[in-house]
Amino acid sequence: MEEEYALITKNLHKIYAQGTEMAVHALKGIDIKIRKGEMVAIMGPSGCGKTTLLNLIGGIDLQTEGEIFVAGNDISKLTDEEMTNFRLFNIGYIFQLFNLFEFLSALENTVLPLFLTKTTRFEAEEEAKMMLRQMGLGDKLNQLPGELSGGEQQRVAVSRALLMNPAIILGDEPTGDLDNSTATDIMNLFVSINENYKQTFIIVTHSEHIAQFCHRIIRIVDGEIVD
Ligand SMILES: Nc1ncnc2c1ncn2[C@@H]1O[C@H](COP(=O)(O)OP(=O)(O)OP(=O)(O)O)[C@@H](O)[C@H]1O
Ligand SMILES: [Mg+2]
Repeated sequence: MEEEYALITKNLHKIYAQGTEMAVHALKGIDIKIRKGEMVAIMGPSGCGKTTLLNLIGGIDLQTEGEIFVAGNDISKLTDEEMTNFRLFNIGYIFQLFNLFEFLSALENTVLPLFLTKTTRFEAEEEAKMMLRQMGLGDKLNQLPGELSGGEQQRVAVSRALLMNPAIILGDEPTGDLDNSTATDIMNLFVSINENYKQTFIIVTHSEHIAQFCHRIIRIVDGEIVD
């Protein structure tokens, strides 16, 4: 049953600057199946294609060849507008550099995507507050990112990603800028979200320690899966 899978990629290729002298064959036939509720780490040397893969899965960039199914939907068949909508509801992103708006409070940062979907500002804010409280940020709602620690900022980013209840949460080195103990806290948070909400996680990391929190590791070398 294809519906059991949060993600399927078939023979995925990405060639940057195709047809020029500068062409880079970044992904060379990636086949992945990730079940709903799985938590998977993606590891591999710098330049092996990890970010490229996440960008394709998240619909930020287009593959050169192959297919991608997110929660059973063939995303290459979507128009730009459908893709934007699909991304909003199905993909949660957590980046290394937090990606919070500097001049917006924790609450304002978190509530942003809900303004696109909820009928009233009040409703959206109540939901965002509830999520931030669950993340232990109930007393930090009105702080700006610059007034929060790295781990707290990352929890705001996690709150924002989770609020839309996406099919997949993608993290590109989400703990890369955090010290070991804060990184461990964030990974424990992911594990408990994964256990409680059966949310699917795909996490790119350079750290074997971080990867050990996941159910399995996909290793990529030079655009190909090796393990
Ligand atoms: N927009 C682009 N145009 C041309 N080449 C690119 C582009 N983005 C990435 N590449 C190349 O594609 C390959 C894969 O890059 P990618 O960013 O996916 O690697 P990565 O595994 O995420 O590396 P890192 O661990 O350093 O983040 C590299 O050779 C990179 O130089
Ligand atoms: Mg990268």
